[in-house]
Amino acid sequence: MVPHRIETLFTAEQVAARVAELGESIAAGVPGTPETPILVVGVLKGAFVFTADLLRRLRPETEVDFIACSSYGKATESSGAVRILKDLDLPVEGRRVLLVEDIVDTGLTLAYLRDHLQRQKPAALQVCTLLDKPQRRKVDVAVDYTGFIIPDEFVVGYGIDWAERYRHLPYIGVVKFQDP
Ligand code: IMP
Ligand code: MG
Repeated sequence: MVPHRIETLFTAEQVAARVAELGESIAAGVPGTPETPILVVGVLKGAFVFTADLLRRLRPETEVDFIACSSYGKATESSGAVRILKDLDLPVEGRRVLLVEDIVDTGLTLAYLRDHLQRQKPAALQVCTLLDKPQRRKVDVAVDYTGFIIPDEFVVGYGIDWAERYRHLPYIGVVKFQDP
């Protein structure tokens, strides 16, 4: 691993405060009747910590499931090809679905997953992402709730990895590479 250090971008306290705000926006914003429980769909693995914290800010009857798709692997650039590695266990048809992502970068993953879920005819489909890097967008894709807009830098922590490292960090940090 090349020499690097992690610089804090958002502290654990800042993240927790924002997650609480997102929970309130989602409770008020997902279309449909409150009697129909929301199905939260976390995108593995990066969004697993965020999904767990967000879930605990939503109504008790909220349901949760996870989906996994191919991503960057060990590189830091997206190949653009998306593939489902683990599909949902719960049915989507007629449900109020909230797709929960860690980061929207090029938007390719989200565009693919949106389409994948939409084809299963949910009653509503909205997207919540913890982080958004709008500078890197390649496809225009709708995001309904955003935690933080960030610059084009590689981030880790709070479930987000660099080659499977740093998911355990309670805060979000930027990977800074040492000058040669
Ligand atoms: P997209 O398809 O380019 O939008 O890629 C989104 C996915 O790439 C995210 O869900 C992350 O898993 C991964 N990703 C994008 N930026 C970063 C980053 O800065 N750190 C770690 N993973 C990232
Ligand atoms: Mg991801």
